[in-house]
Amino acid sequence: MLPKHVAIIMDGNGRWAQERGMPRGEGHRLGAESVRRAVRRARTVGVKYLTLFAFSTLNWQRPTDEVRDLMDLLVRFLDEELPELIERGIRLVAIGERELLPERVRAKLEAVEAKTACGGDMTLVLAVSYDGRRDLVRAAQRVAELARRGVLLPCDVDETILAGGLSTADLPDVDLLVRTSGEVRLSGFLPFEACYAELYFTETLWPDFDEAALDAALADFSRRQRRFGRTAEQTVALG
Ligand code: FPP
Repeated sequence: MLPKHVAIIMDGNGRWAQERGMPRGEGHRLGAESVRRAVRRARTVGVKYLTLFAFSTLNWQRPTDEVRDLMDLLVRFLDEELPELIERGIRLVAIGERELLPERVRAKLEAVEAKTACGGDMTLVLAVSYDGRRDLVRAAQRVAELARRGVLLPCDVDETILAGGLSTADLPDVDLLVRTSGEVRLSGFLPFEACYAELYFTETLWPDFDEAALDAALADFSRRQRRFGRTAEQTVALG
């Protein structure tokens, strides 16, 4: 079965460049090419939601030049891909603390969100200046504010209400979470949303992650049995 929502931690751009004696920026530039390939392939095979971890809140600590390179790449990607996003019915959504982004980046993201809002074939979610814990804290603050205003009682708060306060409120849960580069951790990516996701780790560095690599992750997912707490027999019986 194909996962409806695939989320990817795109890791290894720096190592890819260092292994070749190139500046890290070159790894990010090639990484942006992998983004294009992954988006196209996901759309072609019928993935409905693709969420990419493009920039963590923690990445603000990187050298100023590297942060600027990444922001420039993002803007260029959005400029260059817009016609294809529209043509292929891909809606772009940004999650994360967009108020922390430079104005030109925020404006570009919002313009592309607006211009692709009608895309009904796939949703491409870019996590930019994103950290899952911070997003959860914000959701808790939103819910607390509703309780303070008397809109709901603390005992009314359930998973759906909390999820509604997240920046991913309109997205389904993650089915498959992929991380490249051999690192085996989640790094604050979608902690609530990927609670029941299947995890897939590959040694492939992100700039080398091509269509075949995505297909391999999807094929691996199709062989998993998701039981959600049921027995294997129940799962088979319930389909
Ligand atoms: C990890 O590589 C990747 C990032 C910090 C960001 C991902 C960015 C891109 C794929 C390029 C541009 C994005 C878009 C959406 C156009 P790393 O630098 O942490 O690699 P390392 O662990 O090998 O140092």
